[in-house]
This record gives sequence, C-alpha cells and structure tokens, in this order.
Amino acid sequence: MRYLDLKRKIRDARMWAIQGITEAGSGHPGASFSATEIMGTLYFGRMRHDPSNPNWGDRDYFINSKAHSAPGFYSALAVAGYFQPEELRTLRQLGSRLQGHPVRYSEHQKQHSVPGIEYSGGSEGIGLSVGVGIALAKKLDGKKNRVYVLIGDGESNEGQIWEASMAAGKFKLDNLVTILDRNRIQQDGFTEDIMPLDPIKDKWSAFNWEVFEVDGHRVEQILDALNRAAQVHDKPVMIIANTIKGNGIRHMANNPQWHGKAPPKRQTEVLLEELESECLIAPSIIAGERENYEDKIRKVEREGVDMIHLDVMDGRFVQNTTFFADTIKKLRRLTTLPFDTHLMIQNPLSSIQEYIDARCDIITVHAEACTENEFREIQGRLIDKGISPGIAINPGTDVPKWLYDCLHNLDVVIVMSVNPGSAGQKFMPQVLEKMIVLNKQLRQHGFRGYIEADGGIDATTLQQTYDAGARIFVAGAAVYGGGDIHGAVIHLRHKAEVALERRLLNHATEINIRADWMKARKHILIPYANELNIEEELHAIR
Ligand code: DX5
Ligand code: ZN
Repeated sequence: MRYLDLKRKIRDARMWAIQGITEAGSGHPGASFSATEIMGTLYFGRMRHDPSNPNWGDRDYFINSKAHSAPGFYSALAVAGYFQPEELRTLRQLGSRLQGHPVRYSEHQKQHSVPGIEYSGGSEGIGLSVGVGIALAKKLDGKKNRVYVLIGDGESNEGQIWEASMAAGKFKLDNLVTILDRNRIQQDGFTEDIMPLDPIKDKWSAFNWEVFEVDGHRVEQILDALNRAAQVHDKPVMIIANTIKGNGIRHMANNPQWHGKAPPKRQTEVLLEELESECLIAPSIIAGERENYEDKIRKVEREGVDMIHLDVMDGRFVQNTTFFADTIKKLRRLTTLPFDTHLMIQNPLSSIQEYIDARCDIITVHAEACTENEFREIQGRLIDKGISPGIAINPGTDVPKWLYDCLHNLDVVIVMSVNPGSAGQKFMPQVLEKMIVLNKQLRQHGFRGYIEADGGIDATTLQQTYDAGARIFVAGAAVYGGGDIHGAVIHLRHKAEVALERRLLNHATEINIRADWMKARKHILIPYANELNIEEELHAIR
C-alpha cells in the first residue's frame, strides 16, 4: 500500500465522518477518530476484500465490536469503495442505511444496511466472541481467511471479552487479530478511574495471546504489527494501539466530552479545513554534521517526526554525491518511519529497481532528469510495488505539460525552494507564488496528492509554504544544523500549529463564527494567543 495514498484516504475518511456527524447533530466523533487509522489501514492497506464482491469467499473479515464508532466505520467502508461517500450525509437520518449503530448486511434487508458490514453491533463486549466464532470455523474448514476485530478499552470491562479471549487462546486461533483502541477514555470518564485495565499487555499475554503495541495513529506501525501478526503461529494476536480520542480535531483530542457529541453544523467547514491541513515533517539527514545517519534518524524518531527525507545525489545531476540505495537498505532496518527518497540523479529509470528493493515508501524523481515515457514507466513500477511516486521540480522549472496526464497516480510533487545540491541554502521566496499557482492548477486537474516544500525550510518559511499549499515539509539545516534537535522539532511544529490556528481562525471569521470558534477552541488557542494577537479577545471569552 502506498504510504501517502493511505494517509490521504484516512484523511478523507475523517472528513466524511465529520460531515455525517455535524449533519446528523449526533454521533461519536471521539470514538471514531481514535480508530480512523486502525480501520483505514485495515481496509485500504491490509485486508483481502473486494468492495465489488462483498461476499467473496476468500475475504478477510472485519468485526467492529466498538460499534458506536459507526461514523468512522462507515466512512472507511465508503472510501474503500463499498458505497458513495456522499451517503455519509444521511447518517442517523430516518430511512438511511447508515444508522447510529451498524447492522449486518443481508440481501433481504438491503434498506437497513450497506454491503461489507459483517456484524450488527451496539451492545458492547460481544464482537470478539463473534470474531472467535468465525476464526474457529475458518480454521476447522481449513480456510485461509483472516479475522480482524476492533475492540475498545471501555468495552474491555465486559466479562464476555475475557471469555472470548480465553477461548481464542485455547483454540490457538492464529488467524485472529484483535486490535485494542487504547484511548483511555470511556463515555464521560477515564478508563483507569472507572475500571483500571492496566497492566493490559500482561493480561492478554496471560490469556495466551501474542501481544504487540503500537502508536495507533502511525499507519506504518500498524502495518508493521499486522505483518508481524501474520508470522505468528498457534496463538491469536492482540495489537494494543495507543490512540487519542478525537484525534485530528485539536480541541476534541483526549477530551471525554467529545466521546459522543456532535460539533455544531455551522463549524463543519472549519473542521474540514483542519482535517485537510494535517502536515508532515520530514527531516533531511544530509544536513548538519557529516553522515552519522543512523544516529540522526534515531534522534528525530524520538521527536515524533513523520518521515525521513533521503537526499540521493549522484555527482552528475547535481555536483555533490551523498549516498545510494545500499545505504538506504541498511538504514531501513533501523526504523518503521516512512522513507521519503528524493532522487537527484541522472537517468533515474536505470536504477529505480535498487530503490524499490531498498523498501523506500516514497520515491521522487526530477522532472529535469526524465522524459515523459521514462516517468510513466517509473510511476507504473512504483505503483505496482505499493510505493508512492513523486516528481520534483527545480526553482527554475515548471511542471512539464505531460504531468497533467499522470496526476491520477501521483502522490507528491516536490517544489524545490533552493537549487538542489546541498543542505543549508537560503530559501528562494519567489517559489511561493509558483507554489500557490501550481497547487491550484494541479487541484483543478484532479491532483489529490501532497505538495512537498524542500529547501531552506525553517520556522518562518514553513508557515509561508504551508499557506501556499504545502503539506509535507523537508527540513535539513533547521533540524540538524544547530545541535538542539529536540528544540528544533518543537519549534517547527509550534510554527506549523500557529499557521494552522491562524488559517482556521480566519476561516471562522469569514463565515461569521469567530466567537463561537474561539470559545470551542479556547484551551487550544491559549499557547498561540500572543502570536495570533488575540490575547485580550481570548481573555474576554468565558
Ligand atoms: C536540497 C535537498 C534538500 C535539502 C534540505 O538539494 O533536496 O532536501 O538539503 O535541507 P535544508 O532544509 O537545509 O535546505
Ligand atoms: Zn530533498
């Protein structure tokens, strides 16, 4: 699965879910958004399933035991292709197929459900038993289907979860993977106050499950755990996904209040803008002290960056030489963080296979370095291997005309804001205008990928390129140049947040909900009040 395509689909799923919830005026945004990456990774990146043939005998099964996350579940199904996402707008309405809790699809009651739903839920604690039943049946039949069950931590209070857990261990159901949405909030309180679950890992291990733990919002970690789960024999697998309730909307995050409450409909546009504005930070390891790449990767991984940007220079397309696929292959073993490989090399087609084999997640080649046919071949081969293809353009270059025919499967366009060749150069401000225009033109022609800003990105230029449409930010010298990597990443992220809050506040003002927005967002806005120049205004809100 292409990393950026997966990210985009997950973003889309959240956007459809929020439209459904605000339209309905009810629903569970918090419980949906903690699990969006989990469901998205399963449906868009992992499970064997076919939306055009939902009853396919060889399909994998997904059982959503925490069924109140219905808006998130429906939107995953819709984005996966089971039905038109626009139908989300009928969520919870009389006569809609998308009710507050999902109903198992049956040909006889088409009007009550949508294809792809295997389980009717609502009462908590039951789904795992159903999953155990299916997994056991498939095993007895000698079938290869795998069963994935999503459970909540709140519902883990139910005794039936543990009965099912015992049974799965007893029957050695290695075709069963359960994912625990560990957001630590249930209803209007915290799980550890209501009924403590920890040490949760030990509990599942003691019930004879193989247990993995991941950050449930990092798709690369979820995918990695699912891959490891496929290698486990004679045991069911539990993936503890540490998540944030309401993730994606900053004022909903980790707040029990938003477990099952809809934001007001008048805020929809601004909420959509927030979801659309997610930004990814990708440190470039060629910057700062020479080489020592492993150490540099470890350090930024600890800071929670999103990707690693790998600048490959061949001494011909650009003057410098950095490293090649063999180095990337070695670095690959260090981390699950996505590798964003930027090939500044002549004739990229001739060595593309090496970079595919090095398991890069994104591979970008320069428009100046290949012809239309060469690019199409590269793009095709990357898509085939589940790698995100990208194209990069130098400050003095425009995107080639032929690119407009390749947009459908293009995941990223790198707009260089320095002439490529080395880290630590000065940002070229004339690129901003180009980025704005290009972003608009690409979108008009159906581009759904990411614009990536590369070259001279620091706290200031990050904000500028962000406003110009970039959503991925490469940072070399700004991260590795000063010696304080921790401080540098905090600073960059803070500036990205300021840029986001400013955009959202402006948007809210345009549609006349400024006061309303500031009230909902007050606790989030406080750290940025000074930079946004809203200190007094914020103070006056009660
Ligand atoms: C430029 C490279 C970069 C760049 C990033 O040739 O593509 O990715 O070095 O480093 P800074 O952020 O220092 O410009
Ligand atoms: Zn680069």
